[in-house]
Amino acid sequence: MDDKTQKLSLKREVGLVGAISLIGGTMIGSGIFMSPQTVLYTIGSPGASLVVWACCGVLVIMASFCYAELGTVITESGGEYIYILRTSGPVVAFMLIFSSVLFVRPAGVTGIALSFAQYVVAPFYPECSPPVLLVKCVAAAAIITLATVNCLNVRFSMSVQVFFMVAKVLALAVIIVGGVVMLVRGHTENFEDSFENTNLGINPIGIAFYQGLWSYDGWNNLNYVTEELKRPEVNLPRAVMIAISLVTGLYLLVNVSYMTVMTPKELMSSNAVAVTWGNKVLGSWGWIMSVAAALSAFGSLNGTFFSGGRVCFVAAREGHMPDILAMAHVRRLTPSPALIFTTAVSLLVLIPGDFQSIVNFFSFTAWIFYAITLSGLIYLKIKKPELPRPYRVPIILPILVLIAAVFLVLAPIVDDPQIEYLYVTLFILSGVIVYIPFIHYKVCPGLLDKLTVFLQLFLEVAPAEKNL
Ligand code: ARG
Repeated sequence: MDDKTQKLSLKREVGLVGAISLIGGTMIGSGIFMSPQTVLYTIGSPGASLVVWACCGVLVIMASFCYAELGTVITESGGEYIYILRTSGPVVAFMLIFSSVLFVRPAGVTGIALSFAQYVVAPFYPECSPPVLLVKCVAAAAIITLATVNCLNVRFSMSVQVFFMVAKVLALAVIIVGGVVMLVRGHTENFEDSFENTNLGINPIGIAFYQGLWSYDGWNNLNYVTEELKRPEVNLPRAVMIAISLVTGLYLLVNVSYMTVMTPKELMSSNAVAVTWGNKVLGSWGWIMSVAAALSAFGSLNGTFFSGGRVCFVAAREGHMPDILAMAHVRRLTPSPALIFTTAVSLLVLIPGDFQSIVNFFSFTAWIFYAITLSGLIYLKIKKPELPRPYRVPIILPILVLIAAVFLVLAPIVDDPQIEYLYVTLFILSGVIVYIPFIHYKVCPGLLDKLTVFLQLFLEVAPAEKNL
């Protein structure tokens, strides 16, 4: 297994442009078309809501600079998983991969699929909210379709990615231009007293950030594939800086446009902001926005499926995942077991889940692990200053981001504790219960072997050699 992964690690094919689209293409997805109304609703005023979007961008830029240093010190692929493994040890790393495979990634898939579904059905229900069951069925259909595409052909799914990337940047550009035109015509009334009614509670601020940060999630995507990046010490920091500042700028302008065109009331009561925006600005062409937002979510969903296989792969080579989840189809070379597994769990999450709560739990869990990763960077900077560091950030940066991350994780709990956050925390901790017998003491290894062989024959998969 090890020499095979070595071979895989030698191929450095991703250049600067690829790296930028790998980050930007995942970041722009469902959030910017779904979260603005929730951010506004929780934080209370248009001014504060723009401040939240800007702060999310700044936080993410700072965090990704820290990740750029981590990625050049620890050069293996695998993102948080590998950084936590190398700094906090196998137990915490296992808790990460455990919760990521069983919850975070499927929740990400489900959240994006729900946004896709909402935009597909929105034009058919102009006056009211569409039936929940219909939205969920469309979301399920999208998940199954994309999982199938990704199981059948990797190259095809990559070209799908490029097409959708163009669609979403165009959609955002249309929204921005529309907003600018309205502003130039003097529609500034929604920005008068723009901080009135701001909610300054800890919980609203935390939740508003969760929703905003969901739209920015994917900023760490390049760290999952550092082994495939050409000249990572140069391209990693560069790609991060270009992609994230671009996305932050786009998100801010899009929000300004939403707020110029819609009153806060209209914005908050809309099921699909881009459709309401489209109806007001483009008139009978409003449905175009619905198509664009659906395509954007579809593309991001595709990217989420595509990159997910890699973390499984890295974790399996460390012995933290059942081998089967890191295998690929013998002829198609697609990571079908991991895809099928993610699809099944995502469909389960879809049954009870709604977009807002999925996003909140996703951000909560994700930021716990970002915080642990950043403490790892602080540890490395203090304890191992001698390590070669082609790119370095001042230590104050990870400390600031860590403080923000701890605030983000604690905010929704201290102010207004909801039992669900306790469940999520217990779930993450339950990783230890699995780790001790199955990974540390390796009880019943034979059982899994038999299952692996059975599944291998059934799914026609083998340990991956090329191009996962
Ligand atoms: N930012 C994306 C969106 O707005 C969600 C990304 C989910 N996370 C991920 N790592 N794929 O839809």
